[in-house]
Amino acid sequence: MKLYVCKNYDEMSAKAASVVASVITLKPDCVLGLATGSTPVGMYTKLAEMNKEGKLDFSEVKTYNLDEYYPIKASDPQSYRYFMDKNLFDNINIDKANNTHLLNGEAADADAECAAYDKAIEAAGGIDIQVLGIGNNGHIGFNEPSDPLVGPTHKTGLTESTIEANSRFFASADEVPKHALTMGMAPIMKARKIIMLVSGKGKHAVLREMLSGVITTKNPATLLNLHDDVTVVCDEEAYNG
Ligand code: F6R
Repeated sequence: MKLYVCKNYDEMSAKAASVVASVITLKPDCVLGLATGSTPVGMYTKLAEMNKEGKLDFSEVKTYNLDEYYPIKASDPQSYRYFMDKNLFDNINIDKANNTHLLNGEAADADAECAAYDKAIEAAGGIDIQVLGIGNNGHIGFNEPSDPLVGPTHKTGLTESTIEANSRFFASADEVPKHALTMGMAPIMKARKIIMLVSGKGKHAVLREMLSGVITTKNPATLLNLHDDVTVVCDEEAYNG
């Protein structure tokens, strides 16, 4: 696990953007695995700036996002599709209609949707770099701490702690969807490269647990210790607590 401790959120975002940009530069038709949440927003802003300045081309890049609430309409401002359009896809020269993919929160058959998503990632050649955030409880995607973790992409319930954490984006905790479709541990671990962004004191304990090298399904992020190309980019608040 490679670790960069950055002074603050802005430096973390710039460092993470440079890692992702170098993958795109080396392989212009690469497959990106993307995350939502507040942590990667600054990185997405920097990537969009590079694109605007003509330094980075997304015309052949394909993306697969980690997760989506279920059920939810793509047009709902709380959907992860809406978030990605606003924070990245509408600000870069990506082929949004054909090359950006999120799990469909409106799918009638959630299991079929998840199975098709894993197949589509494989058909695209697999993920070249997977961007991850980390939940206060160590979740990655919506793979919540639990005795068994699930390999394939699947429908899952959100824990109380995640509903509480995500309620900051909603009028109240009651409005947070109780389910999501999420990439399972398998597609995440199959990514050729993983970059995890970690910001703020609230993530200190789970970050330190992951960096300790002990692996436990009670903190799903610790499984990243089994992958041989993981870069963690965190800020001093997350690192020092
Ligand atoms: C989002 C996702 C989640 C977030 C995590 C951290 O697609 O998969 O696992 O990465 O909940 O969220 P923030 O960055 O808002 O603290």
